[in-house]
Amino acid sequence: MTNPIKGFSKLSKKAKIEWIVNQYFDNKEEAIALLESYWHDEAKTQQLHDDFIENTLSNFYTPYGVAPNFLIDGKMLAIPMAIEESSVVAAASKSASFWLQRGGFKTTIQATTKIGHVHFMYKGDVQKLANFFEQIKTQFWSDTQDITANMEARGGGILKIDLKDKSAELANYFQLEARFETCDSMGANFINSCLEQFAKTLQNAVNQSDLFSDAEKQIQIVMCILSNYTPQCVVKAEVSCPIAQLDEGNGVSPEEFVEKFSRAVRIAEIEPYRATTHNKGIMNGIDAVVVATGNDYRAIEAACHTYAAKDGKYQSLTHCEVKNGIFKFWIEVPLALGTVGGLTSLHPMVKFSLDLLGRPNAQQLMSIIAASGLAQNFAALRALVTTGIQKGHMKMHLLNILNQLEATDTEKEQIVDHFKNNTVTHSAAVAKFCEIRGVKNPESLSKNA
Ligand code: MEV
Repeated sequence: MTNPIKGFSKLSKKAKIEWIVNQYFDNKEEAIALLESYWHDEAKTQQLHDDFIENTLSNFYTPYGVAPNFLIDGKMLAIPMAIEESSVVAAASKSASFWLQRGGFKTTIQATTKIGHVHFMYKGDVQKLANFFEQIKTQFWSDTQDITANMEARGGGILKIDLKDKSAELANYFQLEARFETCDSMGANFINSCLEQFAKTLQNAVNQSDLFSDAEKQIQIVMCILSNYTPQCVVKAEVSCPIAQLDEGNGVSPEEFVEKFSRAVRIAEIEPYRATTHNKGIMNGIDAVVVATGNDYRAIEAACHTYAAKDGKYQSLTHCEVKNGIFKFWIEVPLALGTVGGLTSLHPMVKFSLDLLGRPNAQQLMSIIAASGLAQNFAALRALVTTGIQKGHMKMHLLNILNQLEATDTEKEQIVDHFKNNTVTHSAAVAKFCEIRGVKNPESLSKNA
């Protein structure tokens, strides 16, 4: 068994790698060579990546693709997507081209407010605390002026602070619930700094007041933290067209397509098993752009799934309707994003993504990302209710199989051509490859490749 190590973080990168490979790898040279082969050629860029997190050994590449032909609110965009899953970029591109012919994506920002809490315990007279809170309320603004000055200059700041009595759910539990506008930044540091100051202001004010008994003054601050649930930072994206325009000449009539499509959405509205997969597909489109633009995909995931369950049952984030012969399909999602601060000015590829998108502000990025999620869902449902997804998926997967087999470009071309008229399976791809290479089986491949 490996012995624990003390002070690992203090070791140099070289020493960290040595310790790791000595402890966990038989072929140490090979392990070191692999880690080093993923280092960036330029020391400065590598240093930048090393400094993003702690205990960095190497980099972990994710493919960076682009989905062109997105018409969003009248603007033509090529959307950057960082994702390892095949078919996602193809699906986004296909949907974008489809809706480009039908008016594109239209979005509305419903709100951009973010929320944070000082969670605290108070054992005392509730009305006394409520009255006192109202008396000292302005102090929360004045005590945070150093923190909020820049944000206020940009048009943001603290919008509202409320005292919430949560003691019916947990004895003695209260919150200061604060609402913030953080403009083009995601605002996590800003919000958390304000909240920590609110906690100090509350505690000091109570301590200095004659209104409270010694026992009541024993307020316990549990934690000060923003909430990643942002139901007041929401964007809606929609596509619509007359039903007749849904005819693609593939033998499925527009009416039949709409019926099947609407039923699939309805199933995701009532059946959590399906809703989870349905929303997973939406997150393929959302996360890929969130990552490419240097935003926090874990926060976005958490918020979207809570939002999907906001009515007491987990359900679809997209909806559709047909009214007066018009098919309308939309998504409503909470997206707390930043286009300044964080990684946005540090990561060279994030800068590239934002340049590619024409340097959007946070609200424009919300629109773009919601459209990407909607596009992804449209492509998935369209495939699922017509041809099924495996046909397209396996075509993309074929390239992964051929890369694993280390096929040459000419071999890839020949094999892809063969599978234009044949069903792709892993074994069929391997068999075709063996046939072209003139080897009997995959075992002899590794020796001969
Ligand atoms: C696969 O990553 C995503 C899908 O399963 C989404 C869906 O079923 O709607 C295709």
